[in-house]
Amino acid sequence: MTTSSLPPETTPAQARSALLEERIRQEPGRFRVLTGDRPTGRLHLGHYFGTLHNRVRLQDLGVETFVIIPDYQVLTDRDVADHLVEYVEGLLLDYLAIGIDPARSTIFTHSAIPALNQLLLPFLSLVSVAELGRNPTVKDEIAHSRQAAVSGLMLTYPAHQAADILSCKANLVPVGQDQLPHLELTRTIARRFNDRYPGADGPVFPEPDALLSAAPLLPGTDGTKMSKSRGNTIALAADADETARLIRGAKTDADRHIDYDPVNRPAVAGLVLLAALCTGGDPHDVAAQIGTGGAAALKRTVTEAVNEFLAPIRARRAEYARDLPQVRRILREGNARVDAIADATLREVRTAMRADY
Ligand code: TRP
Repeated sequence: MTTSSLPPETTPAQARSALLEERIRQEPGRFRVLTGDRPTGRLHLGHYFGTLHNRVRLQDLGVETFVIIPDYQVLTDRDVADHLVEYVEGLLLDYLAIGIDPARSTIFTHSAIPALNQLLLPFLSLVSVAELGRNPTVKDEIAHSRQAAVSGLMLTYPAHQAADILSCKANLVPVGQDQLPHLELTRTIARRFNDRYPGADGPVFPEPDALLSAAPLLPGTDGTKMSKSRGNTIALAADADETARLIRGAKTDADRHIDYDPVNRPAVAGLVLLAALCTGGDPHDVAAQIGTGGAAALKRTVTEAVNEFLAPIRARRAEYARDLPQVRRILREGNARVDAIADATLREVRTAMRADY
């Protein structure tokens, strides 16, 4: 059995992901990935080690990859999408800097694809209000929303995500644990559409699989979840001085002996893990090397590791930043490519629904 080497606490979703990894290695051409990030700020190292790195890995394995910048979806938890141009361009620079290659992967913005958005109407007819209301990720996002009232956009968010994924007929979505309920709904929508509107040439939509990343969760510089709103992130765009300052201000404890103990010493363990991820080493070895050097030695090690790791990414980012017209062209080309794909999908949908007059 392929899953026998997995630890006993493996969830069904993790077991499925392990199986998928094997199939991806064997036949990368059978997969099409779609994933993305809302343009609400700068991407940080938590994003990098959690998801971005994995995208580049899949691209490099030969999997066709689509990266959506869901700009409309910024409005799910706030009334106004601020700094959209700045954030979208920041994402583009980050993607290009970490190695998303526009010759092999397609980056696009949600609002630029009319056919994608048209899928939303039939899709919404396939889900009940109760189903939308009990989605645990939506519930959590509502709890943390900046808005006084839950908008229709927030409630229907998972159906939008289904339209993002299914407009491109992606069959693989690399996500974190929190996105699993959304993906379950995407599968449900695909299945119900295929059942209700059987296409003449077989089902219109694939039932996309979630691909969970095996990466350990990187906490922020205070040992809690890395998140922009907590001010504990290190942005990919941060320069060497800003990075050094952020790590100097990171939370540690008084115990001079450095070890890797995420349960009892989350702040120290977070820094050790960060150094390990940046150097490609094992966190226990990183901790052992620092030994009894205390917080100062730990921070020196982490700063050096992060700055060394980010140096080539920063250099590429700066290069692209000097040529913004080219970056904008890359986005326009991505949008044109997805526009054609989503148009073709919509045509199939209308044919299956017998609305092809
Ligand atoms: N909901 C995702 C997030 O908040 C972003 C997203 C939008 C997405 N559409 C998607 C992710 C489609 C994967 C596939 O991070």
